[in-house]
Amino acid sequence: MTIKTFMITISLVSLALTGCAQTSTPTATPEPSSAPQQAQVEESPQLDVPYVPTPTEVVDAMLKVAKVGKNDVLYDLGSGDGRIPITAAKRFGTRGFGVDIDPQRIQEANANAQKEGVSDLVKFAQQDLFKTDLSKATVISLYLLPRINLELRPKLLQLKPGTRIVSHAFDMGDWKPDQVVNVGGTTVYYWVVPEEVPANLKK
Ligand SMILES: C[S@@+](CC[C@H](N)C(=O)[O-])C[C@H]1O[C@@H](n2cnc3c(N)ncnc32)[C@H](O)[C@@H]1O
Repeated sequence: MTIKTFMITISLVSLALTGCAQTSTPTATPEPSSAPQQAQVEESPQLDVPYVPTPTEVVDAMLKVAKVGKNDVLYDLGSGDGRIPITAAKRFGTRGFGVDIDPQRIQEANANAQKEGVSDLVKFAQQDLFKTDLSKATVISLYLLPRINLELRPKLLQLKPGTRIVSHAFDMGDWKPDQVVNVGGTTVYYWVVPEEVPANLKK
């Protein structure tokens, strides 16, 4: 075989292979899917905020500025792998509740709580943070986005006066924080729900 015929043969083989790959793609119209088939397709949840975990030193600073203690009930909205409530439970015996819309995060958080021996103190639920009843929280931790903080703000301002809120990285617009802490190049904001909603924050 000459070089030329060898090259032609190679080209033909690759063309044939490409053709095979294409024809192996199913061309038939899919059957209308039945209910059991639909149940097997797990839709990924619509996240309002992507998953980015808070670094340990920032978790520590958040718990410190909010003075989280044994008598608190800490809610983490968008709890990821559960590190904020789990750390509070381990260190201070704080009861915690984390909600996340992503079932994978809830699995991780439950596994982490178990591993750290705080499953009795900390619970996680797969649910939308906007639909979560916050009335039992004494402390709320957030690592969301500016827009989401602003969307939550009216609901947070309606909570029991004295409820503490701590947010990694993002503020609440015109609701000025009671304290701001800089840690490792990031900012932690802290608010206490006032007795009366300031006039400029009333809708
Ligand atoms: C930036 S991560 C923060 C994770 C954790 N709080 C931390 O600080 O390490 C935001 C989390 O919010 C969750 N999330 C996004 N949209 C949500 C929603 N509508 N309801 C509940 N959780 C949501 C994401 O799945 C993600 O785990």
